[in-house]
This record gives sequence, structure tokens and C-alpha cells, in this order.
Amino acid sequence: MQQFVVAGGARLEGSVSVLGAKNAVLKHLVATLLAPGKHQITNVPGILDVEIMSQVLAHIGARCDFDGSSVTIDVPHDLVPEAPIHLVRRMRASILVLGALLARSGEARVALPGGDDFGSRPIDIHVEGLEAMGVEFELTHGVLHASAPDGLVGAEVMFEFPSVGATENLLLAGVMAKGTTRIGNAAREPEIEDLALLLSSMGASIKGAGTSTIEIEGVSDLSPVSHRAVPDRLAAGTYLVGAAITGGEVTVHDCVPDHLRMELRKLASAGCEWEAGDDWVTVRGPERPSPVDFATLPYPGFHTDMHPPMVALLSRASGTSVITENIYAARFRYVGELNRMGADVQIEGQHVIIRGVDQLSGCPVDACDIRAGAALVLAAMAADGYTTVINAEHIDRGYDGFVEKLTGLGGEIRREAIDA
Ligand code: UD1
Repeated sequence: MQQFVVAGGARLEGSVSVLGAKNAVLKHLVATLLAPGKHQITNVPGILDVEIMSQVLAHIGARCDFDGSSVTIDVPHDLVPEAPIHLVRRMRASILVLGALLARSGEARVALPGGDDFGSRPIDIHVEGLEAMGVEFELTHGVLHASAPDGLVGAEVMFEFPSVGATENLLLAGVMAKGTTRIGNAAREPEIEDLALLLSSMGASIKGAGTSTIEIEGVSDLSPVSHRAVPDRLAAGTYLVGAAITGGEVTVHDCVPDHLRMELRKLASAGCEWEAGDDWVTVRGPERPSPVDFATLPYPGFHTDMHPPMVALLSRASGTSVITENIYAARFRYVGELNRMGADVQIEGQHVIIRGVDQLSGCPVDACDIRAGAALVLAAMAADGYTTVINAEHIDRGYDGFVEKLTGLGGEIRREAIDA
């Protein structure tokens, strides 16, 4: 087990670069299954989730070779169309192999997903969409068996909610289906546009990615690809909140500021100053943040994954903020941990009421999931004394070189391995 020990009081100052987005690269790895041969993805972060996805691919028969921030994926002609429980339990994104395996092998066996504990996270939207494309499902012994006896056929699908994963699963299924697939109320995330870009470079025909209607014309086969992953807006946003919460000044390079429009707007309302170029953004934090209200929404709304870091920031605001969490009904486990640090945060249904306090104080806390863990580290930077963040391997799932990057910005943080 890993824990991070953080000494509060340092101002974060300087520059940091981010690599490709976890939430894009995981899907890129899966997409390579669609074409036998050697693929290359660059700008890949060295994080645990990428390692887990490479193990999923290895089980299926594809080999991933890492060289710094580049990965070569060798995909064979014959695949084992299966994602085993011990890997799916560790990472929910494994469910994405469904679409790709159905396209390549006409069948897939995927254990029902695990991943972050945000309450119930069903996959009904994925299943309904794939059923419309001719897929039959059977659930036995916790494993979802999917098959397309007559092959995948294009369909008109209208999502009840713009699910990121379901949009991606249908994209992966649709690119080699017979005929046209049209997804209405599709998710519009930059990572989906990036997946569509990668698939188009493989030879797929996709229109409208990044809008709420995506049209896919099935093609008979695809070729191996070389692709650079879109920058990680969530890693970038986390370091910017680090500047905000410590009253420091941080420039994040190699990012796309436009992908953080709503988050930057809310940081400005909290009293931050910011400026940006094409691929960099600088945030200067205030002495004390102002309270801010906002609601999490699908892109281009405020990203749910930036909610915990933002609550950490607002826990020290000069007044009361109200946040409405619209994406995950139970994304609140970190609140108890933050309150142990002296914050005054209350949950009312899907609303988070944050009464700003003068000072947080360090204590042992639990990094319940990736973003909660990052938020607690940021809170610890602004707290009095030492904070120990246990279960820090959650943070390693999503942040490349988190400790090193924060240390480079002047943060006082060290990693310790502890006996389970
Ligand atoms: C992805 C991101 C995650 C981010 C989320 C929303 C990855 C690996 N993860 O997750 O970091 O927080 O987008 O931006 O890319 N839902 C259903 N039925 C379904 C599918 C989803 O009810 O079939 C619900 C979920 O329970 C959740 C909401 O829809 O409440 C959003 O889920 P979705 O957009 O699918 O998120 P993920 O793709 O799982």
C-alpha cells in the first residue's frame, strides 16, 4: 500500500506539463483491437489504469510495449473475446472492450464492471444501444455474454443520458457494422472527439463527434494507427486548483485551455486570475477564495471529476458555496475525510453545502478514489501541519508523477510504502 505524507503551508509556484488524458488513452488502447497489426499511441501517461488496460489487452491476446510515454500495441488476428473479473473489478473502463470485441469476434464475455465506488453505476445505456445493433445479451455467473449472431448492424439510437462510455462503446461497435449508426444525445467530451480522430485515422467514417449527434458509416476493415492522445484536462485542472488553494501561481503546459472553459470560469469566480495561450494556462490564486455555486453537467458543463478538488478549494472560502452533483448520486465519500480536516461540508441529497472555514488542519485521511484522493492532497497543501493520505494508489490510477510534479512546484509531499 502507498501513502502520501503532505506538509501544509507551501505555495505552489512554477510550471508543470501534463501528458495525454487517461480517459482518452484507455479507449485508444481498446480501439486498436479493431485492426490486426502494430499500432502506436504517444503522449501516454505512466499511470496504473493504463497498466491495468494493458493487462486486459494481454488477456485478449494483444501485446503492449511501453517506451517512456509511447506504447506500441501488437494486435493479433485471433482474439480471446473476454475481459476477466479480476481486471474489470479494478477498472470500470474495461467494459469498453464490448464494442470492439463484438466488432472483431462477433462475441464478448465481460465481467460486470467495478472501478470507483460512486454508488450504482449501471450499463443499461450501453446494453440498449448495442441491442439496437443486433447484439444479444445473457448474464450468467456475473459475466455478461454478448453475441451478434448476424453481425453488427447500423442502428438509430437515442440515448436517455449522454453517457461517455456508452457513446464510446457504440462508436467502437459502429465503425465496422453493416450500414449507418446514428447516436442521438451523444456525449460531447473532447476525449470522444479524440477517439473518433483515432478511428478515422484507422479508416473509419465518422461525422459529428464532439456534437450530440454522431453518424458512423460502417466500413469492412480498419488499419493500424499512430496517434497522439489529447492532453489530460483533469490533470491540468488539478494543478490549477493547487495554485488556487495555496494562493500560488502555476502554469500548466501541453494542455488545451479551451477544454477547461467552465472550470476556469468558476476558478475566476472564486477569485483566481488566469491567462491562457494555445497550449498553456496560468492560474494565480487569491489570498482566500470567494464562495462559488455550480452544478456538474456533461461537457461542456463543469466536469464531475473536478468537483472534489473544487470542494477542497471552497472549504476555505470566505462564505458558503453550494454545489449540485448531477452525474454521480454518491460521489461524496471524500466529504467525511475533508470534514476530519476541519472543513464544514454537508450533503443534502445531491447538493453539497460548503461553509468556508479559516483553516484546515492536517490528519490521516483516506483517498477513496482518484479525484477524491487528489482533492485531499490539495486540501493538505493548504492545511496546518501534516496530513497522511492513505490508499494513495487510487491517485496513481489517474495522475502521472503526481508527487514529483507537486514537489517540482514547491509542494512538500513524499510517498511512503506501507505494510498492508
Ligand atoms: C467517464 C469517465 C469518468 C467521468 C464520466 C463522466 C472514463 C474512463 N471515465 O466515465 O472519469 O466521471 O465519464 O464525465 O472515461 N450511466 C447509466 N447507465 C449507463 C451508463 C452510465 O445510468 O449505461 C450513468 C452513470 O451511472 C453515471 C452517469 O450515467 O451516473 C455518467 O456515466 P458515463 O458518462 O457513462 O461515465 P463513464 O463513461 O463511466
